[in-house]
Amino acid sequence: MESLRESHIHHRVGRSLIFFPLPFQGHINPMLQLANILYSRGFSIIIIHIHFNSPNPQNYPHFTFYSIPDGLEHDVSTADIIYFVKLLNIECVEPFRDGLSRLLLDFKEEPISCIITDAVWHFTQVVADSIKLPRIVLRTSDISSFHVFAAFPLLREKGYFRAKDSKLEESIIEIPPLKVKDLPDVKTQDPEDLHRYVAKLMDESKASSGLIWNSFEELEQDSLTRLCQHFPIPIFTLGPFHKYLPASSSSLLTQDQSCISWLDAQAPNSVLYVSFGSLAAITKNEFLEIAWGLASSNQPFLWVVRPGLVQSSGCLEPLPNGFLEMVGERGYIVKWAPQQEVLAHPATGGFWTHNGWNSTLEGICEGVPMICQPSFGDQKVIARYVSDVWKIGIHLDYTLGRGKIERTIKRLMAEAEGQRIRETIMSLQEKAKLCVRQGGSSYRSLASLVDYILSFKT
Ligand code: UDX
Repeated sequence: MESLRESHIHHRVGRSLIFFPLPFQGHINPMLQLANILYSRGFSIIIIHIHFNSPNPQNYPHFTFYSIPDGLEHDVSTADIIYFVKLLNIECVEPFRDGLSRLLLDFKEEPISCIITDAVWHFTQVVADSIKLPRIVLRTSDISSFHVFAAFPLLREKGYFRAKDSKLEESIIEIPPLKVKDLPDVKTQDPEDLHRYVAKLMDESKASSGLIWNSFEELEQDSLTRLCQHFPIPIFTLGPFHKYLPASSSSLLTQDQSCISWLDAQAPNSVLYVSFGSLAAITKNEFLEIAWGLASSNQPFLWVVRPGLVQSSGCLEPLPNGFLEMVGERGYIVKWAPQQEVLAHPATGGFWTHNGWNSTLEGICEGVPMICQPSFGDQKVIARYVSDVWKIGIHLDYTLGRGKIERTIKRLMAEAEGQRIRETIMSLQEKAKLCVRQGGSSYRSLASLVDYILSFKT
């Protein structure tokens, strides 16, 4: 790991910031990146975390880590993510309040300016208010899908959530270019919980002192304009976070570096990188269709088969008989990859992704055209933007047959359509590069965030 060098650090400002990341990979990464960025701007950083999926302090020797109990039973499953998040937002209230009060007493010489918490930790607004500490919210996803969540009450009233299968292809006229099948559903034991959770997330974000996004103006201009109209609080678009500084690893799983040597031996732009992030799960049948689609595409591929990727298989799913023989040296499989390095590698020419926001942004930053296979929640909205608005990927449209997969891989990796998509994403990549440089939109937004935080009374 390359760590932060002194040259990356501005003069110290004598203030501390408390971060409280949501303990999932796609949320930990951007929050710790943001903490690094603000550390480099002179703030001291305290990370409050719970035991579940706790970050590794050794990768951040310049931060102070403060552990609080989460009150969870040991065997609580994360399979029902909405239920899990609901539990966390109940069980963590008291430990968080106690921890925060103690920190406020201890950090006298470097006063605490504010807390920065994940939007999903909605309970933290009430706690922050009760001790009169400003709370700034980090929303780790995109702005466009946030609008869709904000529109849940309207979409519900219009009956979209009850739409019959025959209507799934229809457009949602209130939110172009979304189709009914792109609605960000998340399976949970009580569907009402999803609506309650979304309402809470919206209300407490609106009640906060500001909203930070890991996105950039040039990418989401229209959505940003709309957000400023509906959320009359300070809004900061600082993304892409991971492009400011050298990476510090916040990976919860060990990244298998051997795939980089394998990539070194492949031709430029020839490899399809396949990964569905840290949470998405597929059925056994889908797994087999993906395997055979990859095999018959004749394209080199690097596939992340994470433990738990296949529903109800705790460990690795066995590959189908004959698959490895058919693929030979053309395919490489790992349990977890150093994704940013893989995407930046010259051999990587395509990214078959679930369109989690971090993966999507990382793909844009490296100019890698995508195949979109969203699984749940925001991913469905992001995938529609990737294919229909930014035109930087091909949507699989929720069907996973091997024939369709083979055809889509060929379209992206070997045909003129793929080349056009590559050119479009490369021009977006250029914008992503420029916005974090001096004078760029995100760079300026970061400067105003720093000024804003320094304006808080301590
Ligand atoms: C979750 C949600 O699924 C997503 O929709 C939401 O936007 C954020 O939270 P996740 O599914 O994990 O995230 O996807 P994503 O947002 O793409 O984050 C995954 C992170 O893990 C990325 O930063 C990626 O670089 C990293 N990763 C992924 C690895 O380091 N190695 C891998 O093999 C795969």
